[in-house]
Amino acid sequence: MGCLVFFIILLSIPKCYSQSKEFNIIQFGATADGKTESTKALSEAWREACGHNGHGVVLVPAGRFLILPLVLEGPCKVSIGLLIHGELLAPVSKNFATGGYWLSISKVDNLFVDGSGSLNGGGSSAWPSDTSNRPVSMKLSSVNTARISKITSSNSKFFHFGVHGCRDVTFDHVTVIAPADSPNTDGIHVSKSSGINIMHSVIRTGDDCISLGPGSKFINITDIQCGPGHGISIGSLGKYPNEEDVSEVTIRDSTFVGTDNGVRIKTWSSSFSSFVSKIAFLNLEMKDVKNPIIIDQKYCPDCKEDKMSNSKVQIRDVRYEDIRGSSTSQVAVSFECSQVCSCESIVLQDINLSYKGDGQPTSICHNVQGSASGKQFPSSCL
Ligand SMILES: *[C@@H]1O[C@H](CO)[C@@H](O)[C@H](O)[C@H]1NC(C)=O
Ligand SMILES: *[C@@H]1O[C@H](CO)[C@@H](O)[C@H](O)[C@H]1NC(C)=O
Repeated sequence: MGCLVFFIILLSIPKCYSQSKEFNIIQFGATADGKTESTKALSEAWREACGHNGHGVVLVPAGRFLILPLVLEGPCKVSIGLLIHGELLAPVSKNFATGGYWLSISKVDNLFVDGSGSLNGGGSSAWPSDTSNRPVSMKLSSVNTARISKITSSNSKFFHFGVHGCRDVTFDHVTVIAPADSPNTDGIHVSKSSGINIMHSVIRTGDDCISLGPGSKFINITDIQCGPGHGISIGSLGKYPNEEDVSEVTIRDSTFVGTDNGVRIKTWSSSFSSFVSKIAFLNLEMKDVKNPIIIDQKYCPDCKEDKMSNSKVQIRDVRYEDIRGSSTSQVAVSFECSQVCSCESIVLQDINLSYKGDGQPTSICHNVQGSASGKQFPSSCL
């Protein structure tokens, strides 16, 4: 009797959340032929999953699905997954997107993007055209608590991933692929976001593997294989008034192969003011990298070479520890800081960079204050 009562009580507990449920885009009319547009199917599967009273998962099964620019928006009822096993294809036409994105995920808490599948940005047709309206392949904005794992992004028309106005987002085992000469195809660009982890990922692209724009705070970058590409950059900063500061960034345990830069901080030569502080670069391997360690406060692509830096971006408290490998330019360590806001508390510890050409590797220090300890090849100018 007692047992039966207990059983009845169990049955009568109201179910607040039902189980996780999958919403297969095929059931919403998607066609896996790579030609028929499946935008509406993906959009409707998202809407159902997002409104599901439990964890809703949008499933993209094996196959190729052509998707036009699309906003996948929250808030969702509980949490949402996008499980991609197939390939999402962007349209090839040059100027199809005016909003600056192909897939935009916005205003979502508790997002999981996962799967062995890929995003194919179809970039080759767009690369020769004007920069202004080329879209980011996957843009996250106002997304809090998210995990992007395992998926591949190839041949984005502009950045592969953009993270803007987000908190607590982790990229894990992500693969990014585009040709070395593809323009502006940054792997992951972060701005105005905090608590971002990027780890165990392979990024081979035409521009920065990872770039951290204004307002990037509490960022951990760990175990990245970068190259080809332009390395990992903080910047460009100082282009606009009232940019938020960049601070608390750690980049560690990563490898750079054949990249233009290793770790770079760059600010516009004539810039608005902001701060960069508490940055650590730890345990990094450089193989045939042109500028392994570089602070460039004279960044100004269309200016004359000899222009002095009047950057008002203050760079302070940057640590480089255990950076080793080879430089393809003689200047392996370059600190070109601002004349009006010199770099402060720059620390070099255990640097071992060889030069691939004739002669010894060198360092350049302009308007920089700091200290060096441990091995220093090239010899430090701090
Ligand atoms: C970054 O790593 C440090 C040390 O492992 C950890 O304390 C911190 O919480 C991490 N930050 C983020 C944003 O996860
Ligand atoms: C610096 O690295 C080279 C290999 O590139 C190695 O042979 C050499 O022993 C290292 N020097 C020190 C002081 O660790």
